[in-house]
Amino acid sequence: MHRVATHAGCIHALRQPELRQSLYDAAAILMSDVLVNLHGERHKARRTVESRVFRKDIFLRYEKEVLPRTLAETIAPFLAVGRGDLVDLGYRIMLNLTVDFAGIDRPERSASETGELLRLLREFSLAPALGQSRPEDVAAKQARIATAMSAFDARFLQPSLARRRALLADVAAGRRDRATLPADVLMALVEGATDLGMTEAQFVQEGIFYMLAGAHTTIHSLAHAINEILAWVDGDPRRAERLRSDPFLVQRCVFESVRLHPSSPVARRRALAVVTLADGIRLAAGEDVEIDLAAANRDPALFGASPDRFDPDRKLAQGVLPYGLSMGHGMHACLGRNLAIGVEPRPGSDPATHQFGVVPLIVVALLRAGLRPDPEDPPVRDDRVTRITFARYPVLFRPAEALL
Ligand code: HEM
Repeated sequence: MHRVATHAGCIHALRQPELRQSLYDAAAILMSDVLVNLHGERHKARRTVESRVFRKDIFLRYEKEVLPRTLAETIAPFLAVGRGDLVDLGYRIMLNLTVDFAGIDRPERSASETGELLRLLREFSLAPALGQSRPEDVAAKQARIATAMSAFDARFLQPSLARRRALLADVAAGRRDRATLPADVLMALVEGATDLGMTEAQFVQEGIFYMLAGAHTTIHSLAHAINEILAWVDGDPRRAERLRSDPFLVQRCVFESVRLHPSSPVARRRALAVVTLADGIRLAAGEDVEIDLAAANRDPALFGASPDRFDPDRKLAQGVLPYGLSMGHGMHACLGRNLAIGVEPRPGSDPATHQFGVVPLIVVALLRAGLRPDPEDPPVRDDRVTRITFARYPVLFRPAEALL
């Protein structure tokens, strides 16, 4: 397998129109027709339709109105008992947010309904790792994924689709104002369905893809950010004071943590024709290249002599993103970036209107609630696939000792 690992080389590769996505080939059952797997005109048309929902005013409404409510509801039971698991908490907060953003209705808004979505999400998350599974396990995992897809379709997707189709029919008949339609991805797709030639199977895949793209990545980033910030502050009162007095510091810490711990350490692309990459690598048609985002994010040419260190005060040249290539680049660059980690603060940014991103805001809420690792029950890493993340992260809530 060819590999590019420099920052400039990765950017060049991710911009090549003759390189198509190939990271998810083994997950075709769930991902063959989702946005991140489409190429060329089909990708452009679908991305244009879905991008309509990824707007600043919609993100700000999520941050300022939806997130505070979801956070308070989700954290309350954990605060009441004074302990919890950071990974479990992350799933509970992010799942509901992503599902709402994707346009999957939760008519009951009950704990058991969220529980069922969590169960389904865990089944779906078998798919992106199918390529790393033992060959003898693949058929059984595919059967589990197929069963979960049918259950998701029947209970969640079909009712959500039917409601949006009815709303659109009302608009067409003049009974409803278009401005009152839900601002979510499914609604945008229902409106664009004819132009895009969307099939029922594609609606199912895309709905599930959003759960995976939005929830897993942010939960991974949340646990790492908390872990890095607590280690950075560890007993240093000056750093704790800086966190309290600088409203943008937590967000800069999240950027630095996302750089060090990309939720997708590699991208992979396949050549559709002969392609010459920046580092002189020549790909024949049909050959794959691994684009090592994690290595690019630690390129000393951009991130200095100690690129492995967590340093939210790192000085970067103009144009270098503080989170490196962790949010992708080029045609598949993350659509949810500003929702997840916000917009880079500038000198003079006003905290009242600034877009912080849901991950930094959740970190702030948890630190205000006095979150700290449980000294008797250390975090457990999950090394089952190439993505090293936390399987468990037991925490205590001590509001009287809160950092923020
Ligand atoms: C910290 C959290 C996140 C990280 C690290 C992340 C990372 C990425 C990366 C690396 C890609 C590019 C994949 C590739 O080139 O193969 C991507 C694509 C994408 N992400 Fe995110 N993402 C995050 C959060 C989100 C959220 C919250 C959403 C939506 C609600 C989202 C939606 C998408 C979509 C739709 C794409 C596909 C874009 C396309 O193919 O045109 N992401 N993300």
